[in-house]
Amino acid sequence: MIREYRSDDWDRYVMDFRHPHRVLEPVEQEIAVVDAALRTLHQAGVMPHVNYDHAKMLAHREAVRDLFDIPWTAITPRMQRLLYAINVIKQPRNMIAAGVFCGNTFISNAGAAVGPGACYTARKLIGVEIVAAEAERAERNVRKIDSTGTAYVLAADALDMVAQFKDPIDLLYLDANGGRGRGKGIYLEILEAAYDRMPAGSLTLAHNSVNGGEHIQQYLEFVRNPAKMSASVNVVFDKEGLEVSAK
Ligand SMILES: C[S@@+](CC[C@H](N)C(=O)[O-])C[C@H]1O[C@@H](n2cnc3c(N)ncnc32)[C@H](O)[C@@H]1O
Repeated sequence: MIREYRSDDWDRYVMDFRHPHRVLEPVEQEIAVVDAALRTLHQAGVMPHVNYDHAKMLAHREAVRDLFDIPWTAITPRMQRLLYAINVIKQPRNMIAAGVFCGNTFISNAGAAVGPGACYTARKLIGVEIVAAEAERAERNVRKIDSTGTAYVLAADALDMVAQFKDPIDLLYLDANGGRGRGKGIYLEILEAAYDRMPAGSLTLAHNSVNGGEHIQQYLEFVRNPAKMSASVNVVFDKEGLEVSAK
């Protein structure tokens, strides 16, 4: 069973969180690393294919660079490309992103369906952020790219929001760090709240699979249990990592 994609340089590929648009490597190298990760996801049965439009990805990246107010972010250019590609390939009708801070993670997912990188038509793409001022900033950012209203950010607790969402959830992106000492342990709580509305083949993406600390371990045990998920692969090409799991 395929469990991991790991690039040789994952621990040397380092970004400055306060300068997220700084170029870290030639774009050809970035594409090659992300393609290798996508091929591993395809081989594991998580992704149906590995193809996405590179020019549209760059159009998406330029719009975010020019229009978004990002005080800091831990989303590396490799991760931005991977999130965008996964969404282009899977085309989730409904996507929920939990813990979106200023919206950069959210739009890395949603940009597959809205703005200059759009490749398909989605139904609802919802970012959830518990800190009201951050949710407002994220919503302001998203409005600069998406004029359709398909993508939007709510100020709410993602756990409550997911529990109350009635429709199928085709892609769930997890990035919240829960209060009350839960840290990334909140990932499992959110996934369990969503699980019965996630169709077969739906995806859950968990940021910080590498550096998420002890609290993420129970989450990883859950998604790596074949009784719960059909496949789960840890993508390790930066110091944060992304666990990609298919139901
Ligand atoms: C580490 S930040 C995500 C930053 C993102 N990885 C990036 O690099 O841009 C986690 C965010 O989750 C939010 N958060 C924490 N608990 C939450 C919850 N229960 N529901 C929604 N958002 C939550 C926090 O306020 C914070 O903005």
